Amino acid sequence: MKNQIEQLKKEKNAVILAHYYAPAEVQEIADFVGDSFYLAKIAKQSKADIIVFCGVYFMGESAKILNPDKKVLMPDLTADCAMAHMVADGIIDEMRNKYDDLAVVCYINSTAKLKCQSDVCVTSSNAVKIVKALPNKNIFFIPDKNLGRFVAEQVPEKNIIINDGFCPVHAKITAEQLLSEKVKHPKAEVLTHPECESDVLVLSDYIGSTADIIAYAKQNNADEFIICTEDGVNYKLITDNPEKRFYYPEPHPCCADMKLNTIESVLSVLLNEDKEVIVDDAVRIGSLLPLERMLELGK
Ligand code: 13P
Ligand code: SF4
Repeated sequence: MKNQIEQLKKEKNAVILAHYYAPAEVQEIADFVGDSFYLAKIAKQSKADIIVFCGVYFMGESAKILNPDKKVLMPDLTADCAMAHMVADGIIDEMRNKYDDLAVVCYINSTAKLKCQSDVCVTSSNAVKIVKALPNKNIFFIPDKNLGRFVAEQVPEKNIIINDGFCPVHAKITAEQLLSEKVKHPKAEVLTHPECESDVLVLSDYIGSTADIIAYAKQNNADEFIICTEDGVNYKLITDNPEKRFYYPEPHPCCADMKLNTIESVLSVLLNEDKEVIVDDAVRIGSLLPLERMLELGK
């Protein structure tokens, strides 16, 4: 299957992008693997005719918004991010009516329709930088309450109103689970994604996006790490650091939607070109500006 994928990629001038939460065998055959910000940048720069996006729907959708003339395929169009929908109808308008200078800051883990109603998108690796750079004092941060609270703590000079969405995968990681790993591995450093709850964050040595966690583990001298994020990052962590040990809260955090990206489904979509991401023109135009603003401010 790997050989067939390689051949089809060449024949069709296709490129495979995979998020760090995709299964290891999919990361292995991908041309680019990264966090949400990196993948959005790569999608924008790509010269390929076909982009196969191995992630969840908002990622493929963002790639299509940034590349309207390219064919963006997903191995499984049903791979979705639950948090992407967690903004109540009407609440954005309500906030805009309440604050004159409001900026709606939208985590990229959101539907394109939500992006359309926003001023700028962010990812977990650039949210603090972008919120700091905005001229607005009042910020409505959607959809993730945990990333929103993390940003609010780093940018105390702004009034950050936080929506109540969350990632069900990260929300399942509890302080008790983490403490039990810390007892088993007392020397391990704790590296945590900001989508985790605050009682997990306070027990952590480092908080960052998937790419930040991976970079930190490589640069840091510690031999052992407890990783509080989805366990797909383990592939890159052990590839980069074969001599280091990585532990996860039990049960291992797993995003079932990310795992819908299988080698079989990648091959099938490359062969049949049947699972294409389609974005309505009005939605595409409305969501392009906040995404492009993110790419500019996040540089
Ligand atoms: P990153 O931007 O850190 O890759 O996170 C994406 C994500 O979905 C986290 O749950
Ligand atoms: Fe969405 Fe959470 Fe899965 Fe990330 S891990 S894609 S935030 S459901």
